[in-house]
Amino acid sequence: AFAPVTIVHGLILDTPEDPFHGGELRAEECALAVIDGVITFRGSLAEAQKRYPAATLATVSGLLLPGLVDTHVHYPQVRIIGGLGMPLLEWLDHCALPEEARMADPAHAQAVASEFVNGLIGAGTTTALAFGAHYVPATDALFRAAHHSGLRMTAGLVVADQVLREDLRTTPERAAREAAGLIEAWHGKGKLRYAVTPRFALSASADLLDSCRETLNGTPDLFFTSHVNENPAEMAAVAELFPDASNYSDVYDRRGLLGRQSLLAHNVHPTDAELARLGETGTAVAHCPSSNSSLGSGLFPLRRHLEAGVRVSLGSDVGAGTGFNHFKEGLQAYFHQQLQPDGVPLGPAHLLHLATVSGARALGHDDVGHLSVGAVFDAIEVNPPPGTPLEAILKNAPSADRALAAVFANGTSADLDRVWMGGVATHTRTPE
Ligand code: GUN
Ligand code: ZN
Repeated sequence: AFAPVTIVHGLILDTPEDPFHGGELRAEECALAVIDGVITFRGSLAEAQKRYPAATLATVSGLLLPGLVDTHVHYPQVRIIGGLGMPLLEWLDHCALPEEARMADPAHAQAVASEFVNGLIGAGTTTALAFGAHYVPATDALFRAAHHSGLRMTAGLVVADQVLREDLRTTPERAAREAAGLIEAWHGKGKLRYAVTPRFALSASADLLDSCRETLNGTPDLFFTSHVNENPAEMAAVAELFPDASNYSDVYDRRGLLGRQSLLAHNVHPTDAELARLGETGTAVAHCPSSNSSLGSGLFPLRRHLEAGVRVSLGSDVGAGTGFNHFKEGLQAYFHQQLQPDGVPLGPAHLLHLATVSGARALGHDDVGHLSVGAVFDAIEVNPPPGTPLEAILKNAPSADRALAAVFANGTSADLDRVWMGGVATHTRTPE
């Protein structure tokens, strides 16, 4: 039997060549042939149809972009998006942690899991690194929802054994045992992968971090994620708790928790020594601009990260971040560079790269984030509703770069028509 072939034709934008290293936006009116969810041909429509005469044709009338990659997002926090006006530690106590505690109720967790996955996919995010919940049944519900949806997701049980409210604490032994159960159930299943996830150094004893390392040692290809250097009060508390560490990220480094399979969120206030070490170890950093604005955490020093060779990706950080819209997140990243004297001027290709290939690479996925032959067909169709400003802008855009900039400035989930995951299309908007 022959696998069915889909030919997707339209104006395709992606960034296979890194614009932070001289690459430019690739904008081509062309056709992709997709078999078993993988792009097997890229070229002219005539040639595609000649090769695959029986293929089904899908025509994209707006723009086709790679599926977006969100490398830092909290599943339990969907319903607290918009808790404005507090710095990190106050926001955690008053806003985030009470909601995290509600995830002890499996019915609540199941509802939120579905809201979370729908929120991501509706925004065009097809790959995510997500913080799970502090509870096994809730984290299980997240994996189940993601598996069912087709989302490519790395996630894990969030663990803490100090500082946080009692009902969010575990022990090093229980953390290891519960992780083992979830790894057994979900790691490597379909597009799922497990991430060892201590909430942040502040809520982790040295023993808990050691148990995280042991869990990582126990199974190949696990991921590691946590937070770092987000807020001065948080950093001071970490310094007091770990007097032997030379800085915040050293708390993780001493336990062997940095590396190419590790991603830390925020890093708004790093020292040069930390950046050098993050670069050397290949640890990725998720830049979460809307969260950094919302909590007043500060302006991300992108230039210093790039100069130190640190891999940087983009994260919505829902629910400190203000929503799942990754175009908005990219726009905020642009704003934050504009607002710094030594900010990196970001063009639309940089924003698309941050929202796609950078994140995919940070997660070790070479075959997503771009639409080349051999890549998985994870893609989104930007096709604004008739009569909207964005529709008019795209119709009249003088260049693909300008069209893409307009998508970052204006685009929302309402402008996405179809979201493709592994070659399967999900309609996110009711057809007119
Ligand atoms: N640090 C520890 N937990 C959190 C969280 O939930 N959100 C953010 N932004 N920072 C954190
Ligand atoms: Zn976070």
